[in-house]
Amino acid sequence: MTDKYAVIGNPIWHSKSPLIHAAFAKQTHQDISYEAIEAPLDGFEVKVRGLIAQDYKGANVTVPFKFDAFKLCDELTQRAQLAGAVNTLTFRQNKIFGDNTDGVGLVADITQNLNIAINQKSVLLMGAGGAAYGVVLPLLEAGAILSIANRTPEKATQLANTFNKLEIGKFEINAGEFLKFKNQSFDIVINATSTGLTDDLPDISVNNFAANALAYDMMYSRETKFKKLAEESDKQVKFTDGLGMLVQQAAEAFYVWRYIRPSTPPVIQMIRTL
Ligand code: ATR
Repeated sequence: MTDKYAVIGNPIWHSKSPLIHAAFAKQTHQDISYEAIEAPLDGFEVKVRGLIAQDYKGANVTVPFKFDAFKLCDELTQRAQLAGAVNTLTFRQNKIFGDNTDGVGLVADITQNLNIAINQKSVLLMGAGGAAYGVVLPLLEAGAILSIANRTPEKATQLANTFNKLEIGKFEINAGEFLKFKNQSFDIVINATSTGLTDDLPDISVNNFAANALAYDMMYSRETKFKKLAEESDKQVKFTDGLGMLVQQAAEAFYVWRYIRPSTPPVIQMIRTL
């Protein structure tokens, strides 16, 4: 029997997840189906309950439903709990299990695909919304010396306090508005703001990149001002978009469901050439 999975979002037509999971299934010889499903903005729970009734085994969740998914779960992993959002649902024994694989996806893309160490590196995380919350725990666990900058500084401080209280990392998170970090350079700068969607740029400059820094945009399939800034720097900054993260978070979800970790580089390559 083919095990059924899906990704739920709104809109969802653009999703690359069905292609990614089809490639994983082929590579690992898993008998699964995976489709994209649009839920009405006020109809996420009804859609999920419908999938469970049809014996689906799990679902990925994307914009704008990651918080709805969080609320719907009977049980959550620690990383989902701390992210405050869920992107991977597993339906088992009449229960909904929630996980969040976005952060480990980011860290795996940086450390394994790009081969860049995070341990003891200075990392500037830009943004303090949902996307930023999801990646803090895995960055700390990877040993990052983390700073968080946000246009609304209170949100950055609140995010930092949540994790500082838990004493997860080796170092306290430093947080505030962008101006606070004006004269500081970082080994890794991660854009977790939504500025790519509006063609804006957070308030940073080339001075925020250390020599040979990594500029990581969680956005993909778009020319962003952040990318332009990284390319303008004369400090050999390496820029990458979030496509690797997308494929890695999918691989981690695949692992949650199937207990097999697919190899991601050929799939990243395949999606890039589409
Ligand atoms: P997401 O789920 O994608 O993180 P979100 O929760 O709405 O979306 O968060 C968007 C993030 O992008 C926030 O950190 C936001 O900053 P504020 O907290 O000050 O709103 C940031 N952002 C959006 N537009 C921005 C801009 N023009 N300049 C700087 N930051 C911006």
